[in-house]
Amino acid sequence: MKAIEVEHLSFSYETGENEEKKNILHDLSFSVEQGESIAFIGPNGSGKSTLMKLLVALLEKDEGKITLLGQELNEDSVDDLRKKMGIIFQNPDNQFIGATVRDDIAFGLENRLIPHEDMEDIVREYALKVGMIDFLDKEPSSLSGGQKQRVAIAGVLSMKPEIVYMDEATAMLDPKGRKEIMELTSLMKKENPNMTILMVTHHMEEALLCDRIIVLHEGKAYLEGTPLYVFSHEQELKEIGLDLPFNLKLKSALKKEDFSFDEDEDIKEIMKNICHA
Ligand SMILES: Nc1ncnc2c1ncn2[C@@H]1O[C@H](COP(=O)(O)OP(=O)(O)OP(=O)(O)O)[C@@H](O)[C@H]1O
Ligand SMILES: [Mg+2]
Repeated sequence: MKAIEVEHLSFSYETGENEEKKNILHDLSFSVEQGESIAFIGPNGSGKSTLMKLLVALLEKDEGKITLLGQELNEDSVDDLRKKMGIIFQNPDNQFIGATVRDDIAFGLENRLIPHEDMEDIVREYALKVGMIDFLDKEPSSLSGGQKQRVAIAGVLSMKPEIVYMDEATAMLDPKGRKEIMELTSLMKKENPNMTILMVTHHMEEALLCDRIIVLHEGKAYLEGTPLYVFSHEQELKEIGLDLPFNLKLKSALKKEDFSFDEDEDIKEIMKNICHA
């Protein structure tokens, strides 16, 4: 089954000046299979966050159709569909409200009317999964950025969402924190093969871990395909100002991940070896 189907989606922001509209997404179409992980990449301002907001109905589309898990997203279905979605934001500080890590993980469960006697077990199960079991009584504000994101992920996972959105969830983290969250994301994918993950990222090494990449540019899907396909279109990526010098960055990111290759090797060959490894 398709988890997400976006057909001819258009969206503009009202700018306020003379009621002018600023067109962000224009006739955008794509679909995502259940269990697939998709990375959205694209220049600053290309509409990645806007798209995520449209998909969780925080913004209202101008035109087009969004179907999630077989149901069209509209006023009637939004409450039901929201229960099946989890969102992890860029700034972990914005997603905490509880006095302790335990409260924060439990917050979503409380909203879903999970019986109180089951709550502690569920909270512990997910705290353990994300490596935060020893922090349950700590104040969220005392945690590092990476630890905060782990707690946020535990909260989202505990609700067993069918679709998870991550909008630059690692942007505020140092390389170590980023790596940890990426490992956790891979684990989460492995443990939940039917969970669909949509992530927005500026880090190519994160996009590399996804099944498919969609490059947004000027309101449309500029390039779309496997990481191998997208990253082998070096020139096209350069043309939209994406991450120059792209090869160098990619090579150094791959090195950090302990992939070995010859410095002069063509990026296409390197990608082929990695993707087929
Ligand atoms: N509330 C708003 N009102 C008007 N314009 C907005 C609003 N939010 C975003 N925009 C504009 O819409 C465009 C797309 O923004 P968006 O945040 O979706 O881009 P993005 O691809 O997520 O960028 P980044 O990589 O910097 O996070 C930008 O030009 C931005 O300035
Ligand atoms: Mg953004």
